[in-house]
Amino acid sequence: MPDAAPGLAPVTFTLNGEPVSVVAPPFAPLSDTLRERLRLTGTKVGCEAGDCGACTVLLDGAQVCSCLIATAQAQGTAITTIEADHGAIPRLRAAFLAHGAAQCGICTPGMILAAADLLAREPTPDAAAVEDALGGVLCRCTGYRKIIEAVLDAATGNLAPAAHPEAGAAVGARIARLDGWPKVAGTDLFAADAPPADALWLRAVRSPTRVLASPSVTSMPRAAASASPRSSPLPTCRGITASASCRT
Ligand code: FES
Ligand code: FES
Repeated sequence: MPDAAPGLAPVTFTLNGEPVSVVAPPFAPLSDTLRERLRLTGTKVGCEAGDCGACTVLLDGAQVCSCLIATAQAQGTAITTIEADHGAIPRLRAAFLAHGAAQCGICTPGMILAAADLLAREPTPDAAAVEDALGGVLCRCTGYRKIIEAVLDAATGNLAPAAHPEAGAAVGARIARLDGWPKVAGTDLFAADAPPADALWLRAVRSPTRVLASPSVTSMPRAAASASPRSSPLPTCRGITASASCRT
C-alpha cells in the first residue's frame, strides 16, 4: 500500500467477517471511519461521548462505543456492525421486527449488537441479564419492554411471525411496522447518513474550559463582551438569526 497522506494511516482489521484496510486519521473515532470512509451508516452517532450507546459495535465480540474507540485501536481486531449477518444478529432482527421493538430506529443497531454480545456469552439469559447487557444503550421511543421481550424471544428462538391480520380484524392487533425492516437491518437512512451534497454544515464547539463556559461570559454586558478579545470569536445570538431557540 502506498504511503498515506499526512495525518492518515492505514488500518487493517476484519469487518463483518471480511478483511478490510482503510486509510484514516488514526485518532478519529471508529464510528466516523465506519460511517464516512467505509460507508457503513448503520452505526449511528448520538452523543460522541460514550453516553447514548447508539454507536455500539462489537470489537472482538464485546460491545463497545465506537465513538470512544480510536480507529488505530481497531488494527488487527474483528469489528462487527449491524450490517453483519452472523451470530445472533439475524434472529435478533426478526425478533425486533415481530415485537415492534424498533420505532425511530436510532438506537436499534446498538441494541441489537449489545444483545448479540450477550447471546454469544449467555445463550438463554433472563430479563435481568438482558437489562444489564442493554444498559449502555438508550432508547427514547420504546420504553424498553418490547426490546427486552424481543431479545428474550431471540434467545429461545420462539419468534412470533410478523402479524398480518385479516381484513376487518386489524383493530387492536399487532402488525409489523411497514418501515421496520430497514431499521433492524441498519439500512434506514437518516439525515446524517445521506446529507444533500449542498448541505450547510455547522459545528458546535463546546468549551473545554470553565472560562468560556462560565456564567460570567454569558452574563457579561454586551458592550464588554464585544470589546473583549477573548470573546470576539464567539458567535452570538445576533449572528444566528435563524435559530428559534436562541436565547439572548
Ligand atoms: S455516539 Fe457513542 S455513545 Fe453516544
Ligand atoms: S427506537 Fe427510537 S431511540 Fe430507540
